[in-house]
Amino acid sequence: MYDEDTDTLSPAGSCMTAFAPLSPQNGDDRQAALRDRTILVGVCGGIAAYKCAGIVSTLRQSGADVHVIMTEAAQKFVAPLTFAALSNHDVHTDMFAKDTTWDIAHIGLVRKTDAFVILNATANTIAKLAHGIADDLLTTCVLATRKPLLVAPAMNTQMLEADATQANIRCLQERGFEFVQPAAGFLACGETGDGRLAEEEEIIAALCAMLTRSRSLASEHVLITAGPTREFLDPARFLSNPSSGRMGYALAREAAARGAAVTLVSGPTELPAPAGAERVSVTSALDMHAAVLERLRGTTMFIGAAAVADFRPSASSKIKTKKEDADVNLAMTRNPDIIADVARQKPPACLVVGFAAETDDMERNAEDKLLRKGLDCIVVNSIAAHGTDGAFGARDNAVTILWRQAGNGHVERCRLARAPKTAIAAAILDQAAALRAQRR
Ligand code: CTP
Repeated sequence: MYDEDTDTLSPAGSCMTAFAPLSPQNGDDRQAALRDRTILVGVCGGIAAYKCAGIVSTLRQSGADVHVIMTEAAQKFVAPLTFAALSNHDVHTDMFAKDTTWDIAHIGLVRKTDAFVILNATANTIAKLAHGIADDLLTTCVLATRKPLLVAPAMNTQMLEADATQANIRCLQERGFEFVQPAAGFLACGETGDGRLAEEEEIIAALCAMLTRSRSLASEHVLITAGPTREFLDPARFLSNPSSGRMGYALAREAAARGAAVTLVSGPTELPAPAGAERVSVTSALDMHAAVLERLRGTTMFIGAAAVADFRPSASSKIKTKKEDADVNLAMTRNPDIIADVARQKPPACLVVGFAAETDDMERNAEDKLLRKGLDCIVVNSIAAHGTDGAFGARDNAVTILWRQAGNGHVERCRLARAPKTAIAAAILDQAAALRAQRR
């Protein structure tokens, strides 16, 4: 969504007010995205459950193999037989069904699935998903999957706007769930407002975009650095910075979800290893430099998201320096510039994407780094503030992506409004994939 006043774009699915409307697709695009794909559809309890029947029918007519899970509440609105007839498969309603042809019901269901769509998602189901509750087949399957997940909520306006629901949606977005914004209009409760299930066209377009993306980096080998480095003075003290690693981890998870082979060279963080990526843990800038250069062969895309310490103490001690030892004057030595070395030594077609952490003159400094370090693309973010307003340590980020145009070398830019780092990561990878395609 473009905002003329701020000259920024909202990345798709970035927040409840900024879900990007997707352009309608023609039947050929839809067939290409859906043909021979296995889609697991979860249907929740609410009056719009009847609309989900139409969506299941369209998916099947477009060539997808569709399997439906209904919650207990959904079955009060529409009989499972409707979905069975439309999907041409038994409908899954019971965790402990005896006559299932699948192996362990929830594992078998998710294993063969390309994408999982939760339709008519209620505030209750969204809350359960946000908290990892698995008390029925639908929520258990969500917990058991690493496949792309799309959620189309439908509920009363007040329930949608409730702080708890908004916090739960945000939490799921940060974990990589995509949402289709509910529509505004007349609601079954008699009120008018936001909360209607989005139009079928919009849900299917979002699903197709998700499926297309899920293969978009299938032949790429992506090497990513993330997090801070630590430069030890002695066993008790180090120099570092407030980087949480979230941006690099979001990039790693998104690249893996798009089918890339991903290696993440990470400085010390609290974050769990992203699903689908190989994590190599390092401590200092020198460790990170060595780990990256060792793995550069075969890399088709390098993303330097780490906040690498530029200096290390010229001498470090294995023995703790006692504070009684008088004032300490530190002599510092420059660390190697990892990304600049990557740009010099990379395989020929490898794309190099850097970050720029700036406090002022953001885009001018970033453009200078882009050219000076020989990068293809750079993502600049502000570290002027810490916590919720800046980039360091925050869950959200606002960035400008700058890249060199193939051919004329002209620098182009795109400003992205503040959004969860997962959405920012998706937008960066969209741009990186487009640049890779130009260079192939
Ligand atoms: N970088 C790197 N190795 C370093 C320093 C930075 O690979 N020793 C990478 C970062 O991962 C990022 C880019 O270089 O992709 C820019 O980092 P940034 O900290 O913004 O700038 P610096 O190059 O350190 O320059 P300065 O501190 O002067 O702004």
